[in-house]
Amino acid sequence: MIVIRPLSDTPEVRVALADLLIEAVAHGGSVSFMHPLAPGAAHAFWAGALAAAARGERAVLGAFNDGVLAGTVTLHLDCPPNQPHRGEIGKLMVRVAQRGRGIAAALMRAAERLAVERGRSLLVLDTASEGGAAGLYEGLGWTYAGEIPDYALKPHGGLVGTRLYWKRVG
Ligand SMILES: CC(C)(COP(=O)(O)OP(=O)(O)OC[C@H]1O[C@@H](n2cnc3c(N)ncnc32)[C@H](O)[C@@H]1OP(=O)(O)O)[C@@H](O)C(=O)NCCC(=O)NCCS
Repeated sequence: MIVIRPLSDTPEVRVALADLLIEAVAHGGSVSFMHPLAPGAAHAFWAGALAAAARGERAVLGAFNDGVLAGTVTLHLDCPPNQPHRGEIGKLMVRVAQRGRGIAAALMRAAERLAVERGRSLLVLDTASEGGAAGLYEGLGWTYAGEIPDYALKPHGGLVGTRLYWKRVG
């Protein structure tokens, strides 16, 4: 059974998130990092993310399958003063062995519900043009806004564009 809950900073959570991020990058996931991602860099990233979550600037959600962290998504809430109604989705990833079971879709729905609870009515995200999760977002009702070419490097090298999406919630 999949249980989704907000994560706070414990050594176990940080190790599980770091393993998840390192694996996602190794398998070509466009989640801001290059392969190979050093464990120290992965830990430092999540330490910063969980500290921001503790300050209420974002929420880091975890999906647990039989108690094991299977996936995560981040809801960014620290928008500028003129965008208090907006949030941003990032760092959606699921363990390779756990993919194809609806975990990412469940994480996205949970993030959208949480955004509404936090008073947000507009969400945005971007995903790699190749190898990203555009089909997943479109299936969840997100609207494609456009594409920026050569936006980032793929984890194993070579430029890739990014596709921008938005969704009204609540
Ligand atoms: C993208 C990712 C999170 C999907 O996780 P998942 O748990 O396997 O996805 P789900 O099982 O919830 O899929 C839900 C639906 O989206 C579809 N889908 C999933 N990944 C997709 C992809 N990369 N492209 C298109 N459609 C996708 C599934 O086929 C499924 O469709 P269905 O409901 O019609 O059966 C996972 O492949 C991953 O971690 N990738 C690496 C990191 C990454 O690229 N993250 C996105 C960054 S923006």
